[in-house]
Amino acid sequence: MKKAYASAPGKVILVGEHFVVEGCPAIAVAVDVRARVTAERIEGEHVRVYSRELGEAVFGPGVGGGPLYPVYVAAREVIQRSGERIGLKITVESDIPPSAGMGSSAAVAVATVAATAKLLGLALTPDEVAQLALAAEVVVHGKPSGIDPTVSSHGSAILFRKGDKPKRINADFEQVRLVLADSGIQRSTGKLVSKVLETKKKFPGILEPLYRSATELAERTKEALENGDFATVGELMNINHGLLSALGVSNAKLEELVYAAREAGALGSKITGAGGGGMVVALCWREDADRVARALSKVAARVMTASVSEEGVTCGLES
Ligand code: MEV
Repeated sequence: MKKAYASAPGKVILVGEHFVVEGCPAIAVAVDVRARVTAERIEGEHVRVYSRELGEAVFGPGVGGGPLYPVYVAAREVIQRSGERIGLKITVESDIPPSAGMGSSAAVAVATVAATAKLLGLALTPDEVAQLALAAEVVVHGKPSGIDPTVSSHGSAILFRKGDKPKRINADFEQVRLVLADSGIQRSTGKLVSKVLETKKKFPGILEPLYRSATELAERTKEALENGDFATVGELMNINHGLLSALGVSNAKLEELVYAAREAGALGSKITGAGGGGMVVALCWREDADRVARALSKVAARVMTASVSEEGVTCGLES
């Protein structure tokens, strides 16, 4: 029996999370930590999803819910697009820390779409893969901007703005590393996105200037990346962290991690993703990354060092 496989990278948002939900530009990079999915046909019209961490579940019309449901939704989007009526077995494996701001759910959704499409003989562009994966992200957190599946599908560095074609940023990331420090605090992206939107509604005159700043900040970051000016990128990430604190998504633990990274010599550090917990990212020269990681490991639940990955979603068939 034919089996299709796909893999997709996790992501780190360098600047612009939350602001991107309201139409501002943001910059994200794909990193060298991936989710892998296989898809194969089974009898009937149900979708069976298996995950080492989350166990197994069976889905079909009227059968939903649970942590594996978004995987089913991603597969269902492709099955519907193909017009076929089939049963599927989907197996998921991921090295991306879950619920930590590294786009683990989006990478799983992107790989699920790509593997299912490959199995069914549908040729999809990276934008189409991201678009279909977005349905799973809606299940996960209600009002996603689309940045996570877009960067996971395309790879490399992307300037993303809702409704626009994503722009690839030409930058050489060889001399830098991203040190990621996990606060160990679990949180819900959906709740944080709603909280920020409520604050914006309550104080529009105060928050709108921050959204204008975030727009210029993303544009200046793109320029600095294209010029290889990582010192300026770091400075802009620090300013972005201040804007995120003003939105109310930081806390004492995240501030501790952010300042520990800067004191150990990071070029810049900030919350990455929804905040409230999850990860902090520190941009470092390659030769400083170990020192920053050591300093962070004294105060973080977990530390990992990642490189920017050119590779987006990939897929193939085995017989
Ligand atoms: C989550 O990785 C980033 C947020 O901006 C939400 C989104 O853009 O979908 C918080």
